[in-house]
Amino acid sequence: MERMKRGEKMNYKQTRMWDVDNWDGKEPSPPEIEEAGLCISRGEAVAFPTETVYGLGADARSDAAVEQIFAAKGRPGDNPLIVHIGERSQWQHLTSSVPDMAEQLADAFWPGPLTLIVPKNNAVSEKVTAGLSTVAVRMPEHPVARALINKAGVPVAAPSANRSGRPSPTKAEHVTYDLDGKIAGIVKGGGAGYGLESTVVDCTGEKAVVLRPGGITREQLTRVLGEENVAESAGLPQEEAPKAPGMKYRHYAPSSPLVLVEGSMHEAVKEAQREGKTVGIMAVDEHHADLQKYADVFIALGSKDELSDIAARLYDNLRLADQSRVDVIFCETFPKKGIGEAVMNRLEKAASAS
Ligand code: TXA
Ligand code: MG
Repeated sequence: MERMKRGEKMNYKQTRMWDVDNWDGKEPSPPEIEEAGLCISRGEAVAFPTETVYGLGADARSDAAVEQIFAAKGRPGDNPLIVHIGERSQWQHLTSSVPDMAEQLADAFWPGPLTLIVPKNNAVSEKVTAGLSTVAVRMPEHPVARALINKAGVPVAAPSANRSGRPSPTKAEHVTYDLDGKIAGIVKGGGAGYGLESTVVDCTGEKAVVLRPGGITREQLTRVLGEENVAESAGLPQEEAPKAPGMKYRHYAPSSPLVLVEGSMHEAVKEAQREGKTVGIMAVDEHHADLQKYADVFIALGSKDELSDIAARLYDNLRLADQSRVDVIFCETFPKKGIGEAVMNRLEKAASAS
């Protein structure tokens, strides 16, 4: 990785790379994970893979450690972080009480891509919760994430490991691109299988409220809690403070405007070209042959029958689109069912930020 350059600002860090790609998750964990865990326990910020996206982790009990996350990402301080735990028993140390529905959801989906909002206690740094009385907790499934948290021996606050406003990283290279020189290190290990962030569920009210759709689908939540116990949507009027504060921020602002096309892609492209614009198209593989000839850049999203593959590659494809430097990018839409709800949520955010 890059050495410190002359004239570089004092806050430049030499970012280490620990490659554990070859670890199968079964053999005892390699020394690289131990070193990275030690870094976290000493108060440094370290990026690591999870089954959703790469996270940027630091000791959730330490203000100074957590501040490094906000500084490296350029993240607004009023946007709280998710605390990651390695063992279920750890969450007793973070919460004042665990609502029944949270226990039920944890039974069904932990370890996995589900974040539960529960009442917090005083062990959690105020910086993590941005002054809220609740804390977001998740037990990830990825063996590297779990081994790292266990080696660190502390609850690990971790947002996605991207610069604020960029797509979440699904590969170690994305983290390097965004955060090299700003964090202590990156643990490189295997792909992030889901590719989209965890589902965030508020468990502090009478019904479970999905604040952010993700890897665990609404249908899966309903199957466990019953239809009547899952609220239709956050349903907050615009002027009220958003429940998941992160929802109010621009998430991914592509350098070329992204437009979602429900009707005819041909028409949309023709019109833009009539205005003299260069055009990128993001569409499913099945439409490649037909649409490619119209576009300056074509990005194949994956097969229309494999929506989970499309989800897994979506952020990588949005990063590609960002580099294409066309005047406008048109993207197909998907049914908001199953993982499609999360895919469309991220695409709509990207489109509204352009
Ligand atoms: O899959 C994921 O969840 C990844 C990996 C690394 O675990 N993490 C992630 O973190 O996506 P982040 O910080 O990018 O998104 C966390 C979201 C934000 O929208 C934040 O506002 C919300 O969760 N959140 C955190 N704590 C909250 C709380 N106490 N109440 C409501 N929303 C909260
Ligand atoms: Mg994020």
